[in-house]
Amino acid sequence: MADALKAFEAELESKNFKGYWQNVQGDVDREPVPSFEPCHWKGKDLFAAMEKAGDVVGLDVSFRRVIQMWNPSLKNGTSRTLVLNLQLLKPGEDALSHRHMAGAIRFILKGHGTRLIVEGESFEIGEGDFVTTPSWTWHDHENHGGQAMMWLDGLDSPLVRLLETDFHEPDPRKKQPVTKPEGYTLATMGALRPSWVRQNSIQPPAFCYKWEDTEKALSKVGEQPGDPYDGIVLEYANPVTGGPTLPTMSCQIHMLRSNEKTKTHRHTSSTIYHVWKGSGVTTIGDKRYEWEKGDSFVVPLWYHHRHENTSKDPAVLFVMSDKPLMAAIGHYREDAKAD
Ligand SMILES: [Fe+2]
Ligand SMILES: [Fe+2]
Repeated sequence: MADALKAFEAELESKNFKGYWQNVQGDVDREPVPSFEPCHWKGKDLFAAMEKAGDVVGLDVSFRRVIQMWNPSLKNGTSRTLVLNLQLLKPGEDALSHRHMAGAIRFILKGHGTRLIVEGESFEIGEGDFVTTPSWTWHDHENHGGQAMMWLDGLDSPLVRLLETDFHEPDPRKKQPVTKPEGYTLATMGALRPSWVRQNSIQPPAFCYKWEDTEKALSKVGEQPGDPYDGIVLEYANPVTGGPTLPTMSCQIHMLRSNEKTKTHRHTSSTIYHVWKGSGVTTIGDKRYEWEKGDSFVVPLWYHHRHENTSKDPAVLFVMSDKPLMAAIGHYREDAKAD
Protein backbone atom coordinates (compact mmCIF):
# COMPACT_ATOMS: atom_id res chain seq x y z
CA MET A 1 0.00 0.00 0.00
CA ALA A 2 2.81 2.41 1.00
CA ASP A 3 4.68 1.51 -2.19
CA ALA A 4 1.56 2.04 -4.28
CA LEU A 5 1.05 5.49 -2.68
CA LYS A 6 4.68 6.45 -3.26
CA ALA A 7 4.44 5.39 -6.90
CA PHE A 8 1.20 7.37 -7.26
CA GLU A 9 2.84 10.50 -5.76
CA ALA A 10 5.75 10.15 -8.19
CA GLU A 11 3.28 9.85 -11.06
CA LEU A 12 1.45 13.01 -9.87
CA GLU A 13 4.73 14.90 -9.54
CA SER A 14 5.80 13.96 -13.06
CA LYS A 15 2.65 15.70 -14.34
CA ASN A 16 2.99 18.77 -12.02
CA PHE A 17 0.26 17.68 -9.60
CA LYS A 18 0.37 17.43 -5.82
CA GLY A 19 -1.99 15.57 -3.51
CA TYR A 20 -3.55 17.52 -0.62
CA TRP A 21 -2.25 14.86 1.80
CA GLN A 22 1.35 15.68 0.74
CA ASN A 23 1.16 19.21 2.27
CA VAL A 24 -1.31 18.93 5.13
CA GLN A 25 -1.00 16.52 8.02
CA GLY A 26 -4.62 15.79 8.91
CA ASP A 27 -7.46 18.13 9.86
CA VAL A 28 -6.04 19.66 13.04
CA ASP A 29 -6.42 22.88 15.03
CA ARG A 30 -3.88 25.43 13.93
CA GLU A 31 -2.95 28.99 14.78
CA PRO A 32 -0.28 31.35 13.41
CA VAL A 33 3.35 30.41 14.01
CA PRO A 34 5.48 33.37 12.86
CA SER A 35 8.58 32.48 10.88
CA PHE A 36 10.50 35.39 12.43
CA GLU A 37 11.43 36.27 15.97
CA PRO A 38 11.34 39.35 18.20
CA CYS A 39 14.47 41.47 17.92
CA HIS A 40 15.87 44.46 19.81
CA TRP A 41 18.29 47.01 18.33
CA LYS A 42 20.24 49.26 20.69
CA GLY A 43 20.15 52.95 19.80
CA LYS A 44 23.76 53.40 20.95
CA ASP A 45 24.92 50.83 18.37
CA LEU A 46 22.69 52.25 15.65
CA PHE A 47 23.83 55.86 16.04
CA ALA A 48 27.51 54.82 16.32
CA ALA A 49 27.13 52.81 13.10
CA MET A 50 25.49 55.78 11.36
CA GLU A 51 28.27 58.12 12.48
CA LYS A 52 30.73 55.78 10.83
CA ALA A 53 28.54 55.54 7.72
CA GLY A 54 28.66 59.35 7.57
CA ASP A 55 32.46 59.09 7.25
CA VAL A 56 32.80 56.14 4.89
CA VAL A 57 29.59 55.94 2.84
CA GLY A 58 29.05 58.75 0.33
CA LEU A 59 25.85 59.26 -1.64
CA ASP A 60 27.85 58.18 -4.70
CA VAL A 61 28.19 54.73 -3.05
CA SER A 62 24.70 54.48 -1.61
CA PHE A 63 21.82 56.31 -3.28
CA ARG A 64 20.43 56.85 0.21
CA ARG A 65 22.69 56.59 3.30
CA VAL A 66 20.48 54.12 5.11
CA ILE A 67 21.05 51.42 7.72
CA GLN A 68 18.34 48.82 8.13
CA MET A 69 17.09 47.38 11.40
CA TRP A 70 17.65 43.90 10.03
CA ASN A 71 15.89 41.02 11.74
CA PRO A 72 18.38 38.13 11.49
CA SER A 73 15.52 35.61 11.50
CA LEU A 74 14.51 37.06 8.10
CA LYS A 75 16.52 37.29 4.90
CA ASN A 76 15.74 40.99 4.73
CA GLY A 77 13.52 43.45 6.60
CA THR A 78 12.41 44.12 10.17
CA SER A 79 9.15 42.17 10.01
CA ARG A 80 7.65 39.97 7.28
CA THR A 81 5.95 43.04 5.69
CA LEU A 82 7.77 46.17 6.91
CA VAL A 83 11.26 47.54 7.30
CA LEU A 84 12.54 50.26 9.62
CA ASN A 85 15.71 52.11 8.60
CA LEU A 86 17.77 55.05 9.80
CA GLN A 87 18.82 57.61 7.20
CA LEU A 88 21.48 60.33 7.48
CA LEU A 89 21.68 63.38 5.22
CA LYS A 90 24.64 65.66 5.86
CA PRO A 91 24.69 69.45 5.34
CA GLY A 92 24.88 70.31 1.66
CA GLU A 93 23.76 66.88 0.49
CA ASP A 94 20.95 66.20 -1.96
CA ALA A 95 19.33 62.77 -2.10
CA LEU A 96 18.05 62.66 -5.68
CA SER A 97 14.49 62.07 -6.78
CA HIS A 98 12.92 58.69 -7.51
CA ARG A 99 9.68 56.80 -6.99
CA HIS A 100 8.76 53.21 -6.23
CA MET A 101 5.86 50.92 -5.51
CA ALA A 102 6.83 50.68 -1.83
CA GLY A 103 5.08 53.23 0.37
CA ALA A 104 7.33 55.07 2.83
CA ILE A 105 7.20 57.25 5.91
CA ARG A 106 9.78 59.40 7.73
CA PHE A 107 9.92 60.20 11.42
CA ILE A 108 12.54 62.89 12.05
CA LEU A 109 14.89 62.05 14.92
CA LYS A 110 17.50 64.77 14.72
CA GLY A 111 18.12 68.17 13.17
CA HIS A 112 16.34 70.96 11.38
CA GLY A 113 16.71 72.66 8.03
CA THR A 114 16.07 69.88 5.54
CA ARG A 115 13.36 69.85 2.93
CA LEU A 116 11.60 66.73 1.78
CA ILE A 117 10.04 67.26 -1.63
CA VAL A 118 7.21 64.85 -2.32
CA GLU A 119 5.08 64.96 -5.47
CA GLY A 120 5.84 68.63 -6.11
CA GLU A 121 5.35 69.85 -2.54
CA SER A 122 8.24 70.91 -0.33
CA PHE A 123 8.01 70.16 3.40
CA GLU A 124 10.39 71.86 5.84
CA ILE A 125 11.07 69.27 8.51
CA GLY A 126 12.41 69.18 12.05
CA GLU A 127 12.63 66.85 15.03
CA GLY A 128 9.50 64.81 15.77
CA ASP A 129 7.81 65.66 12.45
CA PHE A 130 6.29 62.80 10.48
CA VAL A 131 6.01 62.79 6.68
CA THR A 132 4.42 60.30 4.31
CA THR A 133 5.70 59.32 0.89
CA PRO A 134 2.85 57.17 -0.43
CA SER A 135 3.37 54.53 -3.09
CA TRP A 136 4.62 55.81 -6.46
CA THR A 137 5.18 59.43 -5.40
CA TRP A 138 8.32 61.26 -6.55
CA HIS A 139 10.52 62.17 -3.59
CA ASP A 140 13.88 63.78 -2.99
CA HIS A 141 15.57 65.32 0.03
CA GLU A 142 17.84 68.34 0.30
CA ASN A 143 19.80 69.42 3.33
CA HIS A 144 20.58 73.10 2.87
CA GLY A 145 20.87 73.74 6.60
CA GLY A 146 23.96 73.59 8.76
CA GLN A 147 23.07 70.42 10.67
CA ALA A 148 23.21 66.72 9.88
CA MET A 149 19.68 65.31 9.69
CA MET A 150 18.66 61.84 10.77
CA TRP A 151 15.30 60.25 10.36
CA LEU A 152 13.59 56.89 10.53
CA ASP A 153 12.56 55.54 7.15
CA GLY A 154 9.74 53.00 7.28
CA LEU A 155 8.72 51.12 4.15
CA ASP A 156 6.46 48.27 3.12
CA SER A 157 9.18 46.98 0.77
CA PRO A 158 9.30 43.44 2.27
CA LEU A 159 5.61 43.12 1.33
CA VAL A 160 6.29 44.52 -2.14
CA ARG A 161 9.06 41.94 -2.60
CA LEU A 162 6.72 39.18 -1.48
CA LEU A 163 4.09 40.33 -3.99
CA GLU A 164 6.78 40.86 -6.67
CA THR A 165 5.26 44.20 -7.71
CA ASP A 166 8.46 46.18 -7.28
CA PHE A 167 8.27 48.99 -9.85
CA HIS A 168 11.06 51.51 -9.27
CA GLU A 169 12.01 54.56 -11.33
CA PRO A 170 14.90 57.02 -10.98
CA ASP A 171 13.81 60.55 -11.85
CA PRO A 172 15.43 61.67 -15.14
CA ARG A 173 15.18 65.28 -13.83
CA LYS A 174 17.40 64.27 -10.81
CA LYS A 175 15.51 66.83 -8.70
CA GLN A 176 11.81 67.44 -9.09
CA PRO A 177 10.46 70.98 -9.41
CA VAL A 178 8.39 72.36 -6.54
CA THR A 179 4.97 72.93 -8.14
CA LYS A 180 2.75 73.49 -5.12
CA PRO A 181 2.79 76.44 -2.72
CA GLU A 182 4.10 75.91 0.83
CA GLY A 183 1.42 74.28 3.03
CA TYR A 184 -0.76 73.33 0.05
CA THR A 185 -1.93 69.91 1.24
CA LEU A 186 -2.46 71.03 4.82
CA ALA A 187 -4.65 73.94 3.63
CA THR A 188 -6.68 71.97 1.08
CA MET A 189 -7.10 68.45 2.43
CA GLY A 190 -8.56 69.25 5.85
CA ALA A 191 -11.96 70.72 6.60
CA LEU A 192 -11.77 72.91 3.45
CA ARG A 193 -11.34 71.14 0.11
CA PRO A 194 -11.40 72.45 -3.47
CA SER A 195 -14.44 70.86 -5.12
CA TRP A 196 -12.65 70.05 -8.39
CA VAL A 197 -9.68 68.20 -6.87
CA ARG A 198 -10.34 64.46 -7.07
CA GLN A 199 -8.62 62.44 -4.41
CA ASN A 200 -7.06 59.06 -4.92
CA SER A 201 -9.37 56.76 -2.97
CA ILE A 202 -6.59 54.30 -2.06
CA GLN A 203 -3.44 56.36 -1.51
CA PRO A 204 -3.44 59.46 0.73
CA PRO A 205 -1.74 62.68 -0.39
CA ALA A 206 1.82 63.19 0.85
CA PHE A 207 1.44 64.86 4.23
CA CYS A 208 3.52 66.37 7.02
CA TYR A 209 2.37 66.03 10.63
CA LYS A 210 4.24 68.56 12.79
CA TRP A 211 5.63 67.51 16.18
CA GLU A 212 4.14 70.57 17.91
CA ASP A 213 0.64 69.36 16.88
CA THR A 214 1.41 65.80 18.04
CA GLU A 215 2.70 67.10 21.35
CA LYS A 216 -0.35 69.33 21.78
CA ALA A 217 -2.69 66.40 21.09
CA LEU A 218 -0.78 64.20 23.57
CA SER A 219 -1.21 66.83 26.27
CA LYS A 220 -4.96 67.12 25.52
CA VAL A 221 -5.66 63.37 25.82
CA GLY A 222 -2.86 62.42 28.22
CA GLU A 223 -5.14 62.23 31.27
CA GLN A 224 -7.67 59.93 29.61
CA PRO A 225 -7.71 56.17 30.28
CA GLY A 226 -6.29 55.39 26.82
CA ASP A 227 -5.87 51.90 25.40
CA PRO A 228 -5.43 49.04 27.90
CA TYR A 229 -2.72 47.43 25.73
CA ASP A 230 -0.80 50.46 24.47
CA GLY A 231 -1.53 53.45 26.72
CA ILE A 232 -2.23 56.73 24.96
CA VAL A 233 -2.29 56.12 21.20
CA LEU A 234 -2.46 58.73 18.43
CA GLU A 235 -2.70 57.50 14.87
CA TYR A 236 -1.30 59.50 11.95
CA ALA A 237 -4.56 59.27 10.02
CA ASN A 238 -5.02 59.63 6.27
CA PRO A 239 -5.99 63.35 6.17
CA VAL A 240 -8.67 62.77 3.54
CA THR A 241 -10.44 59.63 4.73
CA GLY A 242 -9.46 59.45 8.42
CA GLY A 243 -8.31 55.87 7.71
CA PRO A 244 -4.87 54.37 8.34
CA THR A 245 -1.66 56.23 7.48
CA LEU A 246 -1.05 54.20 4.30
CA PRO A 247 -3.08 51.26 2.94
CA THR A 248 -0.35 48.87 4.11
CA MET A 249 0.68 50.39 7.41
CA SER A 250 -0.52 52.29 10.40
CA CYS A 251 1.88 54.71 12.07
CA GLN A 252 1.24 55.91 15.58
CA ILE A 253 2.64 57.71 18.58
CA HIS A 254 2.24 55.84 21.85
CA MET A 255 2.70 57.39 25.25
CA LEU A 256 3.11 55.32 28.39
CA ARG A 257 2.67 57.49 31.42
CA SER A 258 4.85 57.42 34.53
CA ASN A 259 5.04 53.80 35.75
CA GLU A 260 2.14 52.76 33.47
CA LYS A 261 1.84 49.01 32.91
CA THR A 262 -0.37 47.74 30.08
CA LYS A 263 -2.35 44.51 29.86
CA THR A 264 -1.19 41.59 27.71
CA HIS A 265 -2.61 40.79 24.29
CA ARG A 266 -1.64 39.42 20.90
CA HIS A 267 -2.79 40.04 17.33
CA THR A 268 -2.19 38.96 13.77
CA SER A 269 -0.43 42.23 12.89
CA SER A 270 3.30 42.69 13.56
CA THR A 271 4.50 45.88 15.24
CA ILE A 272 7.77 47.80 15.11
CA TYR A 273 8.58 50.27 17.89
CA HIS A 274 11.17 53.03 18.14
CA VAL A 275 11.72 54.73 21.49
CA TRP A 276 11.50 58.48 20.95
CA LYS A 277 11.61 59.43 24.64
CA GLY A 278 11.97 57.65 27.99
CA SER A 279 12.68 54.09 29.03
CA GLY A 280 10.81 50.94 29.96
CA VAL A 281 10.33 47.23 29.43
CA THR A 282 8.34 45.23 26.90
CA THR A 283 7.64 41.56 27.52
CA ILE A 284 7.33 39.60 24.28
CA GLY A 285 6.42 35.96 24.75
CA ASP A 286 8.34 35.03 27.90
CA LYS A 287 11.27 37.40 27.33
CA ARG A 288 11.77 40.88 28.75
CA TYR A 289 13.30 43.60 26.58
CA GLU A 290 14.54 46.66 28.45
CA TRP A 291 14.58 49.69 26.22
CA GLU A 292 15.66 53.31 26.32
CA LYS A 293 15.60 56.34 24.00
CA GLY A 294 16.93 55.45 20.55
CA ASP A 295 16.22 51.70 20.78
CA SER A 296 13.96 49.82 18.37
CA PHE A 297 12.25 46.46 18.67
CA VAL A 298 9.78 44.31 16.78
CA VAL A 299 6.87 42.22 18.06
CA PRO A 300 6.01 39.50 15.50
CA LEU A 301 2.38 38.55 14.96
CA TRP A 302 0.64 36.36 17.54
CA TYR A 303 3.27 36.88 20.27
CA HIS A 304 1.77 37.93 23.59
CA HIS A 305 3.18 41.28 24.65
CA ARG A 306 2.81 44.04 27.19
CA HIS A 307 4.62 47.27 27.95
CA GLU A 308 5.77 49.00 31.08
CA ASN A 309 7.16 52.45 31.65
CA THR A 310 9.68 51.95 34.43
CA SER A 311 10.52 55.62 34.88
CA LYS A 312 8.85 58.68 36.35
CA ASP A 313 8.81 60.48 33.00
CA PRO A 314 6.46 59.69 30.13
CA ALA A 315 7.81 57.26 27.52
CA VAL A 316 6.94 58.12 23.91
CA LEU A 317 7.28 55.54 21.14
CA PHE A 318 6.98 55.84 17.39
CA VAL A 319 5.11 52.75 16.16
CA MET A 320 4.53 51.09 12.78
CA SER A 321 2.30 48.11 12.14
CA ASP A 322 0.77 46.17 9.24
CA LYS A 323 -2.67 46.09 10.88
CA PRO A 324 -4.46 47.89 7.95
CA LEU A 325 -3.21 45.24 5.57
CA MET A 326 -4.41 42.42 7.80
CA ALA A 327 -7.75 44.18 8.33
CA ALA A 328 -8.23 44.83 4.58
CA ILE A 329 -7.99 41.14 3.77
CA GLY A 330 -10.06 40.05 6.76
CA HIS A 331 -7.11 38.47 8.60
CA TYR A 332 -6.98 40.74 11.63
CA ARG A 333 -7.57 38.95 14.93
CA GLU A 334 -6.73 39.98 18.43
CA ASP A 335 -7.07 38.38 21.80
CA ALA A 336 -6.37 39.33 25.37
CA LYS A 337 -4.56 37.29 27.97
CA ALA A 338 -5.72 37.29 31.55
CA ASP A 339 -2.81 38.62 33.65
FE1 LIG B 1 12.68 56.21 -1.94
FE1 LIG C 1 -0.19 45.10 20.60
